[in-house]
Amino acid sequence: MNLVIKPVLFGPITQLLTMKGLPLRGALSDNRLQILPDAGIVVHHGKIFEYGNYKELRYQYDSAEKVEFTTDVVVLPGFIDCHTHLCWAGSRASDFSMRNAGLSYLEIAESGGGIWDTVTQTREASKEHLLNHILYRTSRMKSWGVTTAEVKSGYGLSVDEEIRLLRIINEAAKLADIDIIPTCLAAHTTPKDYFGSAAMYLTEVINHVLPIVKSELLSNRVDIFVERSAFDVSGAYDFLTNAKALGFDLSIHADQFTTGGSTLGVKLGAISLDHLEASTDSEIHAVATSDCVAVALPGASIGLGGPFAPARKLLDSGGILAIASDWNPGSAPMGDLIIQASILAVNQKLSMSEVLSGVTFRAAHALGLSDRGIIHEDMIADFQSYDTSDYREILYQQGLLKPSGVWKNGVKIYESKLG
Ligand code: NIG
Ligand code: FE
Repeated sequence: MNLVIKPVLFGPITQLLTMKGLPLRGALSDNRLQILPDAGIVVHHGKIFEYGNYKELRYQYDSAEKVEFTTDVVVLPGFIDCHTHLCWAGSRASDFSMRNAGLSYLEIAESGGGIWDTVTQTREASKEHLLNHILYRTSRMKSWGVTTAEVKSGYGLSVDEEIRLLRIINEAAKLADIDIIPTCLAAHTTPKDYFGSAAMYLTEVINHVLPIVKSELLSNRVDIFVERSAFDVSGAYDFLTNAKALGFDLSIHADQFTTGGSTLGVKLGAISLDHLEASTDSEIHAVATSDCVAVALPGASIGLGGPFAPARKLLDSGGILAIASDWNPGSAPMGDLIIQASILAVNQKLSMSEVLSGVTFRAAHALGLSDRGIIHEDMIADFQSYDTSDYREILYQQGLLKPSGVWKNGVKIYESKLG
């Protein structure tokens, strides 16, 4: 058997949006985007081997296998959704009704609904049920152009249940078409059936959850929800200091309704600070001048009918801005990253370049990944095509224009039935 893998040439591409040469931080105008007309990409061993003018590449790779586009296409890197909670069972339609009847997210959480409701439903769900639902959700995401998704635990909230969910997420990572990056969010809130304080629960997570997460290599990331209904700043400080000492990257659900979380995250050198809807100018300045990635979650603002993260100010102050879906049953049940990002763009006056950077290489940075989010030699060959000749249509159509094809490591994982 001949095991030599030959290069594959993709093209002709009407506009190849490489996302190359853009800075990691700060505001960006669209004229800084590298847009290559009449382009081609050569993939070898799952990575970008070469890209450039299609006619020249066709001549050079005459005998290579070819994937030919027969209509106008825009090709750009696969999206990276750096904040999701895909591992849940059941629905929170009842929260939705209560919110629209006037109750707030925090009031619902305090009265026993909210996250705890999903914990109850998730604990009752079998491994197969949860696994199938993660795979169903990642399969939806790939049809929306996402090729890497972070997935948090956080609906188990006991030592055994959090480990069970992280094992299931890792199993899904082996089966899914897209890459899954697991995060331990055992510190989502204090479980209502826990006989002890929030501080005692966090100590239990440090002593009994994190060592297993580490020894079984279930995740190298730890997240905590710093908020009135969840954990306060001093408890989170001790928890995160311990997690950091164990070698975990830190992420915080910060400043969603009240401030405190982002200041803590900057102090501890968190890799990402997510939400930030309640951040005031002093938090914005501190986050933007730190190395933490600010992750805007417009899906939660849309889901809750609340304010958007101050993405414009974060960028203008020099921050690193990523945008993620926060897909979860409570605050962000929609899941579609590009619909949400395009709505954030309108609200915050973001350029196309800022939005696309926020869902590609800047989002990769929030996950500590440097091998994706840009089309360039040696990057993994994760990309997607749209049947249009103008890349601006993707955000202009507010998520209605979907990918016609999606490739992971150079292999086609999705083809639109519309095309
Ligand atoms: O990011 N804010 C905390 N966690 C999730 C919501 C989880 C839930 O409501 O089930 C979020 O919005
Ligand atoms: Fe979240």
